[in-house]
Amino acid sequence: MIASVDKLITQAEEFITLYYREKGLTGVEKRLDEVRKEVAFTETYTHTYDELEFGAKVAWRNSNRCIGRLFWKTLKVIDKRCLSTSDEVFEALLNHIGYASNEGKIRSTITIFKANPKNQPPKVRIWNPQLIRYAGHQQPGGAIIGDPALVEFTQVCKKLGWKGQSTAFDVLPVVIQAGESTPNLYSIPASHILEIPIEHPKFTWFRVLGLRWHAVPIISNMVLEIGGVHYNAAPFNGWYMLNEIASRNFGDATRYNMLPTIAQNMGLDIQAKHSLWQDRALLELNEAVLYSYKKSGVSLVDHHTASDQFMHFVDTENKQGREVNADWAWITPPFSASATQVFHQEWPNKVVSPNFYYDFPAWQKNGSLALQQAKKCPFHIYD
Ligand code: ARG
Repeated sequence: MIASVDKLITQAEEFITLYYREKGLTGVEKRLDEVRKEVAFTETYTHTYDELEFGAKVAWRNSNRCIGRLFWKTLKVIDKRCLSTSDEVFEALLNHIGYASNEGKIRSTITIFKANPKNQPPKVRIWNPQLIRYAGHQQPGGAIIGDPALVEFTQVCKKLGWKGQSTAFDVLPVVIQAGESTPNLYSIPASHILEIPIEHPKFTWFRVLGLRWHAVPIISNMVLEIGGVHYNAAPFNGWYMLNEIASRNFGDATRYNMLPTIAQNMGLDIQAKHSLWQDRALLELNEAVLYSYKKSGVSLVDHHTASDQFMHFVDTENKQGREVNADWAWITPPFSASATQVFHQEWPNKVVSPNFYYDFPAWQKNGSLALQQAKKCPFHIYD
């Protein structure tokens, strides 16, 4: 207990000092005294809005796996620490979705709910990995309709009473838990969900595949850590990079697994082992997603542009005297990697604070396996 208070004070001091230094503010000693006293009395402390805003932006700047960090200063930080009930939280999430979607001109946004209290369960918990995701319906024979990555969470939703339509693109409900009460399920009105039907500029058959994807990826299962304070409910979004949807969500054999279907429609022989049919299908799939997002007027960055932007970020950070940490395997795009500059670089991969960490799913909170894995991983956090 004492040790953890000491640790919190050290983390708070580091963060507050960083904030005053980078912002060029005076009066750091006074604020440090205040924070030390608050921690001594309450075992935690409360960030001012400005500290929260700065902390969230720097957590993005420090996200080693993110290629889009050039824009860290533009993050819109919405402070919803005052909300307690799941109804209020859901309303704030709808506002987040609306603000971030912005009719396609996506705005990077984070909404921050109550901080985790010391040695107590979080006050607000969002169970979804992202606010908008498609269900994975496991069929009795083993086949999956929808997104295989979401099978477990879909089962959790069904246990809580959700049904779904059993289509390949059923948007899951938002599961919100206030305190220790049973979680509540909310469905996002269709009017709030911007989706893009996928078509190809030349192949008319592509549209018939019925692929679609949502405009905004809003990560809701990571913990924002600022100066030792943990915000487990702090959903955030940027805009998509092309590869995430085309190569991974649609292309991965363990996701929508579309490469064989696309290759066959292109008239390629998918039995021929070394014919590069996967590569040709991947290229057309990438072109289709890029074309469709552009046509719908929805922000999306291709991997070449994203790589250039990241190199620019590294440059501007270095000019500020800051070293960039990055996780090469995540920064490097999965498709046409070597044609991008980031492929040819190396970076240290140190995790620095503030940052975002993985939490294990709320429904597995006491799962010892998840806990053990979390303890081994520097990107995980646990209280
Ligand atoms: N890869 C995730 C997905 O396909 C999204 C991760 C966050 N991506 C982003 N561009 N901010 O949904």
